Amino acid sequence: MAEELFEQVWTEKYRPQLLNDVVGQTEIVSRLQSFVENKTLQNLLFAGPAGTGKTTCAIAIARELFGDNWRGNFLELNASDERGIDVVRVKVKDFARTRPIGNVPYKIIYLDESDALTREAQQALRRTMEDYTATCRFILACNYNSKIIDPIKSRCAFFRFLPVAQEDVKARLQMIGEKESVAISDDGMEALLEVSGGDLRQAINLLQATASTVKQINAEAVYKVAAKARPQDIEECVQKAFDGKFEEARSQLDGVMIKQGLSGEDVVRQMHQCVLKMELPQEKLVTLLDKIGEYNFRIIEGADARIQVVALLAQIYAIGKEK
Ligand SMILES: Nc1ncnc2c1ncn2[C@@H]1O[C@H](COP(=O)(O)OP(=O)(O)OP(=O)(O)O)[C@@H](O)[C@H]1O
Ligand SMILES: [Mg+2]
Repeated sequence: MAEELFEQVWTEKYRPQLLNDVVGQTEIVSRLQSFVENKTLQNLLFAGPAGTGKTTCAIAIARELFGDNWRGNFLELNASDERGIDVVRVKVKDFARTRPIGNVPYKIIYLDESDALTREAQQALRRTMEDYTATCRFILACNYNSKIIDPIKSRCAFFRFLPVAQEDVKARLQMIGEKESVAISDDGMEALLEVSGGDLRQAINLLQATASTVKQINAEAVYKVAAKARPQDIEECVQKAFDGKFEEARSQLDGVMIKQGLSGEDVVRQMHQCVLKMELPQEKLVTLLDKIGEYNFRIIEGADARIQVVALLAQIYAIGKEK
């Protein structure tokens, strides 16, 4: 068992091969299936959070359209990895120049992280898409479709991927647990769901990583492996600050952050979840959520995370004090 863990990554081992095996995303899957049935693929734009099935669906389409030859007719590029749009264009050109393998009308180019391209680069991409309409279909994937320019949007059929629903993540983890003979306790499952928040890749990775440290997956082991604070730890800090015990809250939070090596972003995200559960009067809840949004933004924009986290704690203290 232990040796096997090193051999294969479960996310790949359990990546659905066909559209029908994709978990959740039912509407998307049925629309994509009708493309495949009619063999009339348009350019597609996939938007949605990480680990929800975008790449999986693209590969499944290729498999279903091209059969065993799919690899020869499918090119996967990453817009942010490659050194800019020029590299992308050269690779696209090289790939698109030759005829598709087998009796199929076109090849598929999957471009991940398209939203990392600048507007100019997207304009260039748009022209490339036009140049090769005869031989290629593009599937563009991104996390935020708001960063994609309109001329590209209007050339693609749009699909919004949602975070995978908790019961679907749960069923998938249970299935994998059974196949890999890993027992998952109830609190372990809850922790896996809580940490991964609809990102199925993260959930499976976390399951595998935790399985290599303990026999039975439990909450404590999951949080340790995820290097995340247990929700109770953060809850306690927030509650203390809110109740006027600022110094205590601050030193506890410091401890949690250092001991568990948490990023400021992680902490703020967990504070957000915990505040939602606190059953506060509406006024205070609204003010708090607004502050959390603001500090989240500051950290993402590059402000010193430790300073911002403490400042947010100070805000929670102040809001708690207000009558
Ligand atoms: N909807 C899903 N159904 C079944 N498995 C999934 C699904 N989404 C993700 N997975 C699992 O997670 C792994 C990663 O998924 P995938 O590569 O499709 O994510 P993605 O949406 O492309 O994410 P990213 O935005 O990070 O590229 C898959 O190999 C699979 O094991
Ligand atoms: Mg992907």
